[in-house]
Amino acid sequence: MKITIAQGDGIGPEVMGVALDVFRAANVPLDYEEVAMGKSVALAGELSGISEEARASVEETGILFKGPMETPKGGGYKSVNVTARKLWGAFANKRVYRILPGVRSVLGDRHLDLTMIRENIEDTYGAVEHMQTHDVAQCRRFITRPGCEQVHRYTFEAAARKGAHRVTCAHKANIMKMTDGLFLETFYEVAKDYPQLQADDVIVDALAMKLVIEPESFDVIVLPNFQGDILTDLAAGLVGGLAYAPSANIGESVCIFEAVHGTAPDIVGQDLANPTALLLSGTMMLRHLGLVSHAEAIDTALERTLLSMTQNRDHTFRTSDFRERMLRELEGVAIDGAVTRQLTIPRREPKMIVTPEPSTTELRGVDVFVESPLAPSAVAAMVDGLDPSLHLTMISNRGTQVWPTGSAFTDCVNHYRIRFESDQPVEQHALIALMADVGHRFPICSAEWLRVIDGKRAYSLAQGQSPAVEAVVTPTSCA
Ligand code: NAI
Repeated sequence: MKITIAQGDGIGPEVMGVALDVFRAANVPLDYEEVAMGKSVALAGELSGISEEARASVEETGILFKGPMETPKGGGYKSVNVTARKLWGAFANKRVYRILPGVRSVLGDRHLDLTMIRENIEDTYGAVEHMQTHDVAQCRRFITRPGCEQVHRYTFEAAARKGAHRVTCAHKANIMKMTDGLFLETFYEVAKDYPQLQADDVIVDALAMKLVIEPESFDVIVLPNFQGDILTDLAAGLVGGLAYAPSANIGESVCIFEAVHGTAPDIVGQDLANPTALLLSGTMMLRHLGLVSHAEAIDTALERTLLSMTQNRDHTFRTSDFRERMLRELEGVAIDGAVTRQLTIPRREPKMIVTPEPSTTELRGVDVFVESPLAPSAVAAMVDGLDPSLHLTMISNRGTQVWPTGSAFTDCVNHYRIRFESDQPVEQHALIALMADVGHRFPICSAEWLRVIDGKRAYSLAQGQSPAVEAVVTPTSCA
């Protein structure tokens, strides 16, 4: 079997070097194709950070074992790591948290066997961002029904394989009723196919607290992308830090195995990089490839190594010392080389992942976002009555209603949402004509159609707005 290797930036080559030496010492029957990915590729002009040869290799082998890659903050090229996950459809990011022998943890000698699965493609991580005015930046958040179904189904399958009892969906559906509401609704839909597993949910901020106080009470947790990004690092803190947190990015055709940590620029080249997380990601990969005996042998050697380093670990951890101990542990270890699973890489054209169409979708209005330094009442006076069939129902600023009622204590920025609604279906061309009229009065920043899908309002209310159309029903637990 051949896999693709990318060393990564910063401490990437240091930890990858150790991981590959360990694989060789354990006689792991893999061939490695090393490719260029990361900062050097991005700076050479390929802004995705993924060279053509890397793309071809990953699409042929279906497996990428990679080191961390640097992402500039604020500007510059986009994250190569995120691009890779999206490009190759690795929709679920699975992270496993155990306290390894000899590793100091805030949990002391408590036992933890926690799996967190983070949706990997959608959410604000699309980073679809625009400056709407000089003062206002916007990031669009996409959560899709097919995307949620994919990650939830993978989660329940992974939980069943783990022998878990409980699967918990983390969300903020009390506030983000459409996006996180959809994540939660699809979770309980998929849960119906796994009646042997207890399915429940938790609001993500409460989860943050519970993970600190009683992490053992959770078994498998599934989260949206951004919330998952933060809480999976919190969980890494529970088991001794980022150096002990492995991850697998699972897709239908391509899987990417990498440590959770980044390039650790503060310790590059100082012989301080801990290869444990990458090694654990490597053994997740070996299990995925059916090389279970090799994975077990390496995990055992790793546990012994970490235990033997207990005395001098904290301030005197040395990458070279770790490597020598690992290789010594593996000397003479006989490994049954049987491959328990044969992978075939599905070859396929891009496909649409869709769920059955709703029976009715009606247009009912439009939210027009405009730039204006005027007061809310002045904005309203300029657009009220433009089309008698579309009522000006609300104007909001930063998500809070400021017209027809508002508070003197609501500070405004130069970016208003003007909502026109009808209690009857309207034609798209009528809304476009209305927007043209608005555009004669204000610079338009963006617009969103207001729809009613299957008889339910499919757009959120402003803070303080009363509903004109019946709300989307929030899901209830099937547990
Ligand atoms: P980081 O994970 O690189 O470092 C955070 C802290 O943890 C640092 O003090 C570092 O020395 C320590 N650390 C991390 N891994 C370690 C290891 N294996 N052994 C010992 N100590 C370790 O996070 P930071 O500094 O926020 O990000 C640095 C760069 O890495 C950024 O460009 C970021 O975008 C990128 N990054 C890449 C990731 C990936 O490739 N999947 C994931 C996270 C960050």
